[in-house]
Amino acid sequence: MKDTFGRKIEYLRLSVTDRCNLRCRYCMPADGVDAIGHVDVLSYEELLRVAHAATRCGVKKIRVTGGEPLVRRGIVDFIRELGALPTRPEITLTTNGLLLAEMAADLRRAGLSRVNVSLDSLREDRFTYITRRPGLNKVLAGLYEADAAGLTPLKVNMVPLKGVNDDEIGDFARLALENPWEIRFIEFMPVSGGLDFTPEHMFPATAILEELGKVAKLIPLLRQGPSGPARMFHYPDSPGRIGVIPAISDHFCGECNRMRLTADGRVRPCLFSTEELDMRDALRHQASDEELEALLRTAACAKPKRHHIGEDKFRQGKRRMHGIGG
Ligand code: GTP
Ligand code: 5AD
Ligand code: SF4
Repeated sequence: MKDTFGRKIEYLRLSVTDRCNLRCRYCMPADGVDAIGHVDVLSYEELLRVAHAATRCGVKKIRVTGGEPLVRRGIVDFIRELGALPTRPEITLTTNGLLLAEMAADLRRAGLSRVNVSLDSLREDRFTYITRRPGLNKVLAGLYEADAAGLTPLKVNMVPLKGVNDDEIGDFARLALENPWEIRFIEFMPVSGGLDFTPEHMFPATAILEELGKVAKLIPLLRQGPSGPARMFHYPDSPGRIGVIPAISDHFCGECNRMRLTADGRVRPCLFSTEELDMRDALRHQASDEELEALLRTAACAKPKRHHIGEDKFRQGKRRMHGIGG
């Protein structure tokens, strides 16, 4: 499936819930959120139908997201069924890691290939400040369990925020000196308003690279295929790798290969889409497989060329990150 700019759409981010067991300040407002009602959330059967249609249109990789995907009951069985679709897509997952220690082995047995874990501070007090919940030790245990279970290469996503956790970039980078993990630093994106952190908190990739250079000599790696949004680096003689995702300063929209489905069944052609396509209505009105495929192709055609963050015409959307899945 190609969009109007010739980009091949091969990667579906499938949000299974907008609920979460953390309350990250850059994702949710202080007073919490009105979660999508249970009847409005797609059932696993419905999600599987969309996923199957997407793979018939050429999607090869499905990333399960949330909110926090591991809080939805039955997620392990769902992942097994996703991986068993006749088209055999690769199944990956992005998680905050809180439940990973107890679930990693089951997820691996169910066919999950690897996980990306979001973690923004290695200091207990700061972790609790940013996420508004305790749990750092659980997440750290989750990283080691996921690694041991073979959910590799394990990726850690850190969003540095000016004056909040930007002094921890070196500490995170040092994880790559000791572990075969990919530590990725992501520029903060202003997906929605009304949150504790604003565009002024964005810590730019150039400054991230400067911090990374203080740890040891940072060596750029050649990109091996369209492997995602990160620019890759490594430190000499270290088992891990470093990634920098310049989502704002040097966006990767030109190579974007992804589409998103929200937990309430809307297709978002882009992370920053203001328009969504309603799959749920089609699913609940006996749409045929061909009709679902046609809807996905229509969504691909609505994919914008790039985002316009920082320009006058940029408008923040209503959905927050927990409702999109990152
Ligand atoms: P892999 O490359 O498969 O490991 O995963 P990923 O980097 O696509 O997924 P992950 O969930 O770990 O997301 C990492 C960061 O990239 C998050 O901050 C996402 O919001 C961001 N991101 C993912 N997809 C897009 C996209 O299409 N556009 C933009 N601007 N950012 C994205
Ligand atoms: N900007 C950049 N990354 C974000 N994430 C969540 N909100 C933002 C934002 N505003 C990251 C999380 C998670 C991934 C899916 O998206 O850290 O790792
Ligand atoms: Fe939950 Fe992720 Fe949002 Fe944090 S960023 S509240 S972990 S969905």
